[in-house]
Amino acid sequence: MTTNSNVQPQAVDAPLTHFATFLVLTVKDDNPDAIKTVRSTIASIKDLSKNITMRDLNAMFTCTVGIGSDIWDKLTGLPRPAELRPFQEVKGKKHTAVSTPGDLLLHIRAERRDLCFEFERQLMDRLRDTVTLTDVTVGFRYFDLRDLLGFVDGTANPVGTAVPEAVMITAERDPAAVAGSYIVVQKYLHDLTAWKTLSTEQQEAVIGRTKADNIELDDAESGQQQSHKTLATIEDENGNEHEILRDNMPFGSPSSNEFGTYFIGYTAQLWVIERMLERMFVGDPPGLHDRILDFSTPVTGSTFFAPSASVIASLEDD
Ligand code: HEM
Repeated sequence: MTTNSNVQPQAVDAPLTHFATFLVLTVKDDNPDAIKTVRSTIASIKDLSKNITMRDLNAMFTCTVGIGSDIWDKLTGLPRPAELRPFQEVKGKKHTAVSTPGDLLLHIRAERRDLCFEFERQLMDRLRDTVTLTDVTVGFRYFDLRDLLGFVDGTANPVGTAVPEAVMITAERDPAAVAGSYIVVQKYLHDLTAWKTLSTEQQEAVIGRTKADNIELDDAESGQQQSHKTLATIEDENGNEHEILRDNMPFGSPSSNEFGTYFIGYTAQLWVIERMLERMFVGDPPGLHDRILDFSTPVTGSTFFAPSASVIASLEDD
């Protein structure tokens, strides 16, 4: 993905891989050298990544860095992206999208688990004394892109020229954020025992697609219970649909009875994902929330901004 200027984006549009590690870190404020170390480590991500990429060029290794609202000014000293703010808790009648801390997000992707592991090891060797671990989740591809609820996840993602349109901020929209993207992450835990009490038809109505062959179902009548697919479809007042790029990954451990989906959404307009969350948790009409939430509980929720690769590399000079 390239921009019309010389500013290089990060690899936010990297293809879906078989493995991903989602690392959320908080910078220690009791360590005076922390910011400096974090800044120089982030600036050298390109070199760190190259070291891993070169081990197997076919493994599509990438790492995207996101920076949280609270640390942005101190870490970058740059103007703030217009929409950068902490994740806003969304409280519906029954379910809440919790907001949890996080200064840095590392979205590490590859076709090989060992490359993700090795990158994380080399990164943490540098960062260990300067950050606390908020969350690390190791995701894996499950069959033909299925989530652990059994549905194909990612179908409605934009493709081709629709990708930069959905995720990349243009100079016209926000000169301070050019070639960057907002990222929202939420770690969901599923109650698979309860989910399995639903018939396939009931599960399909919750999601809005058929389970075996992934065919889209019609929206319900206005005012009725809508599916996840419909509640996550955002139109503005002119009837234009606003897409986001998702790279959700299953994670978990059957022996520990842990089954989850790590949601990650990239967008050029943060309000689009915020509106999706509002519609899912509060419901449309209010009270008729997304029924996926009766079987899926978010335990984290954080917002980040992924600046262009050029901005990331320039941090070293400060
Ligand atoms: C669609 C699963 C959370 C946004 C879908 C689909 C599945 C799915 C199976 C249908 C296939 C597809 O188009 O990808 C899940 C699961 C979640 C989750 C298991 C967590 C438990 C979220 C969240 C958001 C979101 C938190 C946004 C804030 C979307 C969007 C679509 C979608 C935009 C496409 C809608 C369309 O057809 O245009 N999701 N999702 N999802 N989901 Fe989710």
